[in-house]
Amino acid sequence: MNNENLDKILESIDLSSQPPLEEPARQYYFLKKCRVFVSEEEKRLGRKLTACVTTFGCQMNARDSEKLSGILEQAGYQLTDSEEADFDIYNTCTVRDNADQRVYGRLGHLNGLKKKNPHMKIALCGCMMQEPGTIEKIRKSYRFVDLIFGTHNIYKFAELLASSWEQQGMIVDIWQNTDKIVEDLPVERKYSFKSGINIMFGCNNFCSYCIVPYVRGRERSRSPKDIIKEIENLVADGVVEIMLLGQNVNSFGKNLEEPMSFAGLLREVEKIDGLQRIRFMTSHPKDLSDELIEVMAASSKICRHLHLPLQSGSTRILQAMNRRYTKEQYLELVDKIRIAMPDIALTTDIIVGFPGETPEDVDETIDVIKKVQFDNAFTFIYSKRTGTPAAAMENQVSEEVVKEGFDRVLRTVQETARERVRLLSGLTMEVLVEERNDQDSTLVTGRLSNNTLVHFPGDASLIGRIVPVYLKEYKGFYFLGEMAGGEG
Ligand code: 5AD
Ligand code: SF4
Repeated sequence: MNNENLDKILESIDLSSQPPLEEPARQYYFLKKCRVFVSEEEKRLGRKLTACVTTFGCQMNARDSEKLSGILEQAGYQLTDSEEADFDIYNTCTVRDNADQRVYGRLGHLNGLKKKNPHMKIALCGCMMQEPGTIEKIRKSYRFVDLIFGTHNIYKFAELLASSWEQQGMIVDIWQNTDKIVEDLPVERKYSFKSGINIMFGCNNFCSYCIVPYVRGRERSRSPKDIIKEIENLVADGVVEIMLLGQNVNSFGKNLEEPMSFAGLLREVEKIDGLQRIRFMTSHPKDLSDELIEVMAASSKICRHLHLPLQSGSTRILQAMNRRYTKEQYLELVDKIRIAMPDIALTTDIIVGFPGETPEDVDETIDVIKKVQFDNAFTFIYSKRTGTPAAAMENQVSEEVVKEGFDRVLRTVQETARERVRLLSGLTMEVLVEERNDQDSTLVTGRLSNNTLVHFPGDASLIGRIVPVYLKEYKGFYFLGEMAGGEG
């Protein structure tokens, strides 16, 4: 929905009547209420109110933050990157313990800011809020927080924001699950030319180490019609690259009234005129179909990149992780993908230190890394998440053994990725320019179809354009290039 349409809808709402029960009309009603509160406060203070949204974690959270930003902006706040704002919200992650610790650490800093500006409101939302224990801890030790909500009711943000203007004290609203998907709420995109799009929410896989199914709930797919409509609107608004988001996109559509496969959805998305690049995240190897490989190979828009989390190369550990594939099945899948698309970049996630993992299991992981030659791999130390089956396993691995395995895996990943990505040196390839380089303002930064980063001389007018770039020098995980065709 564009801003003019939303303004029209809000104008027609009568705040003296009861709030509607149906969505999204109910949220529009509360959004209008927020506008009134914000503008009254602006008059009182004689200045604009500001809001800062801080995102922890994955692409799903980044997209949720764009939705939070959309509501805040429509409520009348000016968005800022500075935490010295009138409204601060942390959209949290809890996939590993260090994500939790970072939030607690930064909350102390927010408390200091709130002492200087007592009108400041502090809100917390996202995955960490869905974990049992978190709310008690915040109630006890972080009493300055004004508003807490979870992953299932984020669509109610306008309503919760209005409540925080009306009520004193901490507001807490956490749901255990939902089957609701609310469409047509405002979104404020971080980039004008690219956007994430949720295609499904939740996860049913229950990998034994993972907290996500507990904090994000069961799998729910959006209707293909709504997804296509959203992408068409984005393209009309200047978006050229989209990323379809879900914890396990390969099981998209299974629970729809009229089932549609993920590959089927991609075929439809491909038809949208003006859209140039399609990405998606994340694929579970056990669900990656031959149909998907065929659709990708035949496509001119789907990027030559697949993120295919391995987690471990040891079949024994994979079984304990409840991943439901073996080392051999993963390698066969990679072969099939590489035969269909020799130029595809493969990236992965690896966990080291899962309960019971021995140095021999790590050898198996290293063997897979060497065989596959990933273009990049995110390597994580296993983090015990309370409530998951793995947390109750007795054979937790000692810190020294984990560290030794982690260092070996990291070294192998870096060596193999360097060799693989270097192969593109000397080629001229298309780059979607994303931003000015933060370190050197004479350079711009963009990505190849295969997701590799490229920096090259250019100015801000290139941002959002797809241009040919000569990949001159490989610097380890990124290229320095030169625009081809004499323009740069
Ligand atoms: N410990 C370490 N890494 C984890 N991941 C998920 N849960 C855990 C955990 N408990 C990693 C997986 C997943 C990525 C998003 O985070 O590798 O693919
Ligand atoms: Fe977690 Fe496994 Fe679901 Fe990914 S597929 S979100 S690792 S449970």
